[in-house]
Amino acid sequence: MKLRKLLFLSLLGILFSCTTSQNNTDSEMNVFVDKLMSQMTLQEKIGQLNLITPGGGIPTGSVVSTDVESKIKSGQVGGIFGVYGPEKTRQAQKLAVDESRLGIPMLFGSDVIHGYKTTFPLPIGLSCSWDMELIEKTAQVAATEATADGIFWNFSPMVDISRDARWGRISEGAGEDPYLGSHIAKAMVKGYQQDDLSRPNTMMATVKHFALYGASEAGRDYNSVDMSRLRMFNDYFPPYKAAVDAGVGSVMSSFNDVEGVPASANQWLLTDVLRERWGFDGFVVSDYTSVNEMIAHGLGDLQAVSALALKAGLDMDMVGEGFLTTLEKSLEEGKVSEHDINKACRRILEAKYKLGLFDDPYRYFDDARPGKDILNAGHRKVAREAAARSMVLLKNDRQVLPLKKSGTVALVGPLADSRNNMLGTWAPTGDPKYAVTVLEGFKNTAGNTVNILYTKGANISDDPEFAEKINVFGPKIEIDERSPETMLHEAILLAKKADVVVAVVGEASEMTGESSSRSDISLPENQKKLLRVLAKTGNPLVIVNMSGRPMTLGEENELADALLQVWHAGVETGNALADVIFGDYNPSGKLTATFPRNVGQIPIYYAIRNTGRPQEGEQFTKFKSNYLDVPNSPLFPFGYGLSYTSFEYKNLQLDKPVFSTGESLLVSVEVTNTGSFDGEEVVQLYVRDEVASITRPLRELKGFKKVFLKKRETQKVTFTLHSEELAFYHPNLDFYAEPGEFTVFAGGDSNAALSAKFTLK
Ligand code: NOJ
Repeated sequence: MKLRKLLFLSLLGILFSCTTSQNNTDSEMNVFVDKLMSQMTLQEKIGQLNLITPGGGIPTGSVVSTDVESKIKSGQVGGIFGVYGPEKTRQAQKLAVDESRLGIPMLFGSDVIHGYKTTFPLPIGLSCSWDMELIEKTAQVAATEATADGIFWNFSPMVDISRDARWGRISEGAGEDPYLGSHIAKAMVKGYQQDDLSRPNTMMATVKHFALYGASEAGRDYNSVDMSRLRMFNDYFPPYKAAVDAGVGSVMSSFNDVEGVPASANQWLLTDVLRERWGFDGFVVSDYTSVNEMIAHGLGDLQAVSALALKAGLDMDMVGEGFLTTLEKSLEEGKVSEHDINKACRRILEAKYKLGLFDDPYRYFDDARPGKDILNAGHRKVAREAAARSMVLLKNDRQVLPLKKSGTVALVGPLADSRNNMLGTWAPTGDPKYAVTVLEGFKNTAGNTVNILYTKGANISDDPEFAEKINVFGPKIEIDERSPETMLHEAILLAKKADVVVAVVGEASEMTGESSSRSDISLPENQKKLLRVLAKTGNPLVIVNMSGRPMTLGEENELADALLQVWHAGVETGNALADVIFGDYNPSGKLTATFPRNVGQIPIYYAIRNTGRPQEGEQFTKFKSNYLDVPNSPLFPFGYGLSYTSFEYKNLQLDKPVFSTGESLLVSVEVTNTGSFDGEEVVQLYVRDEVASITRPLRELKGFKKVFLKKRETQKVTFTLHSEELAFYHPNLDFYAEPGEFTVFAGGDSNAALSAKFTLK
């Protein structure tokens, strides 16, 4: 018998005694990992720190791994990503288990960002549901599907706060607010991991990108980040911390630098904050070649940057192989210690242990599962519900929506029948062929009673050079053979024949996402032209905007009778949109990122601090903090979203005017459905700290509840505000609340007007 097998069997002896007991304790894991590590060579330990991709999926850098098979066999690979399906993953795992000396199983990872094959709305869209149960459910479905296909380590949730819609990756996160973002981070980690990582249908989550990637300067991807620590701790760190508190298994470092040190070698971030302050005990993986990229950052050669990263607390090197090829030399030269390598190796082995891989390295490779667990009817139902709930109604004059299920509807626009754009960016495991287009959805829902006319009307963009940049992962912008004028003409003729026009416009899916920053976040001019001619027909105009980011929609808002923001809503887009447009679902989404009037207002967010010269009202006033050419207010604020019904808020009450640190305050408000539809409302609670030792935001979200109200129904909605929720980080990074006066606001968006005062003793 080969030495490897003998060793493995002796290990199994230990293992069986560990995993058969109900309560696997850390000490049992430690015994196992100690024993395993005592048998590993230095090269094998370094091998565990190496994450590779054979390039089968979509590589997100210019490098893919080579000699994959021989590396696995020689114990030089700790994990792999971009390999899918039980057959392929099993084959690869067999190489590690049967053919490497110690048979240590590999991790199989992927980016399952908004669903696996059942693609849900983009995360920014999902966040607009403000529905934590639903968000958790989507993560759970994603875990079920991914693990059925051999993937049990997910590079999600992405929780980077962003207040800059130029940044393409704002689509992958939960928007601008740390409080909401923290709740969503927690729901997603819970959805992916449940309470047991070793179950065959749960997967290990990775919170990313640590840290501050969403604050890239000028919204340009991968760019530098610099901000005060106060801002980091108060505004940008909370969602990462929430994921850590929820037990996330791994953390991914970000591409950007923070205070001049790239995140992947930033000891303050990866060790002082993450491990010492927050108590994170999983492992840290780099982003795609982010270790190597520190050469371009100007931190030295590959050996130098790899040593810096390891010493800072980075455990696994994604694709770049700086660890694999230089750590041994750095050890010899005293630039890293054996202890540094051991620490990182241990963390990765511990993750494998928790995933149950030493018990059964093939536990996630079951040929029977994909057929029943992937894209089944139940999962599609969740996707349809999630999509409908992520849509945000921005305008609805004269109750144009919902449309009646009768008469003639002209469905126009480059995204009205564009299967390739429905899933949205970062859906490498999704397949557009399963996506329902808007035209199909309309026909499914109303085809029997509504005369649905369709024409494209315009391309997403007429510019072939731009189209080429967007079409790297397949055709997303398809420039029609017809001339733009012909298409416009056809659209006008069609619109005139209808009772109402629904124009589906916006961004192609790859106009947002990684490496898709834009300096102009308006609709391409040719789509604007289409909307102008449609509006001119005088027929009611419903504009449906699909995008992965907030856009500047001032003109569209003027032209439209109704304006609906639907993001890229996933595999059930068409059906869900029909549910909303024809009133089978009354929209309840609320924006989680502010929509600016123009790009010059960016960064724009609701939780601003006052200047010493605040502007009062919207009028320009000399020597106040404002602009000559645009009001300070956004086009649509955070938290905003209409319903087919209307809600009235009254009777904001506190159970006491004064409360003490360590205690809670009950805040209640009465919400009445005053319109003529049943509907849901996201009741939001904001707080202002009136006087503090540092400048504080004018209001901060501190509570939200989504309630369903029947027509004319009133509900008293109560929030418990604990004094801890009034706490903030101080310049020395201590976290506590300052006694004094506060104002609380309740309402349906961040401009909520109803207010009351209380004092914290
Ligand atoms: C680069 C992206 O920044 C990251 O989010 C992703 O997880 C990796 N590529 C792997 O695909």
